Amino acid sequence: MIKYLGSKRALVGVLGDLADAAGARTAVDLFTGTTRVAQEFCRRGIEPTAVDLASYSLIFGQCYVETDAAAVDPAEVADALVRLAALAPRPGYVTRVFCEQARYFHPENGARIDAVRDGIDRLYGDSPLRPLLLTALLEAADRVDATVGVQMAYLKAYPPRALRPLELRAPVLTPGSGRAVQADARAYVRSMAPVDFAYLDPPYNQHRYFTNYHVWETLVRWDAPAHYGIACKRVDARDDDTRSAFNSRRTIHEALAETIAAVPARVVVASFNDEGYVGVDELVGMGAARGQDVRVLAFDSRRYIGSLIGIHSPAGVKVGVPGRRRNTEYLVLAGRADTLDALVAAVGSGHLHSEAALSR
Ligand SMILES: C[S@@+](CC[C@H](N)C(=O)[O-])C[C@H]1O[C@@H](n2cnc3c(N)ncnc32)[C@H](O)[C@@H]1O
Repeated sequence: MIKYLGSKRALVGVLGDLADAAGARTAVDLFTGTTRVAQEFCRRGIEPTAVDLASYSLIFGQCYVETDAAAVDPAEVADALVRLAALAPRPGYVTRVFCEQARYFHPENGARIDAVRDGIDRLYGDSPLRPLLLTALLEAADRVDATVGVQMAYLKAYPPRALRPLELRAPVLTPGSGRAVQADARAYVRSMAPVDFAYLDPPYNQHRYFTNYHVWETLVRWDAPAHYGIACKRVDARDDDTRSAFNSRRTIHEALAETIAAVPARVVVASFNDEGYVGVDELVGMGAARGQDVRVLAFDSRRYIGSLIGIHSPAGVKVGVPGRRRNTEYLVLAGRADTLDALVAAVGSGHLHSEAALSR
């Protein structure tokens, strides 16, 4: 899976345990990103819908959530990847913009990414394998990139991984068939069918995924956009319709409150950490406004690596001190009291956040 800010790798098992303890058969993962939480639901026999604004997230969802591993012939995927990997390198948009003007990849890999991306639409444009092949390409490109995990800047010198040749690997698919939806979460919850379990993992602050991961957005859309700045961001990043209410200090409170209030689920679990715009107490209030009981679980976690090393200017001069290494991730649970007791028991009452062991 790609490097992704706010990815819930460390909490995936906990979220699966919570969904199991809730007896969930259906779920929605409302800000699904890499889809890793929705994938965990699939592995546990729960049918998830994975929702996100990003185009690359839709592709991951079509690959990992909609595609049933049992329905795919691994040999067919392997053949397709061999065929794509054998295409002659052909410098195009990625090479020109992301390797020569910016430096996200080594140009030799850039020319291969260009060739493979063109090949996917030319050879597999109508194939059910298309999302699997696109996912394989995004993940391969991520393994040879020259960033610290966001595409707002690149490293001064290529790290060793960027000098390795691009290698396409088959995505490890999950069983079952959920759904992937590209939508605004706040709008989506108003018309979705009821589910047993809802997980919400909104952005925490002003850092927009549309700009942080513009290279993946462009690789999926393949629309060769005009771009600006050293990072070569898409010009449509300036448009209002690429903004999310969840990235603004002014609008996130109302957007989140509305989304939590409206999501039709027996149990709602929302993630937040102690560095975001919304405080835990406020989130507890949003859960209680559903007319349900609320509990808060706390987990100590390692911070995103960029916060530790992003302390040098482009000239290599030290301009700051590393940020703190750890933070607290909270899970705010809303549901019936007896269900919530079962959820807390499933992950261990040691995670119950003492100040907020609340009831209505
Ligand atoms: C913290 S990340 C989620 C990470 C995800 N749980 C994972 O483990 O990969 C937040 C996600 O919210 C998405 N997002 C931002 N605004 C959104 C909106 N209005 N509706 C739906 N998704 C949105 C971003 O594209 C990003 O993928």
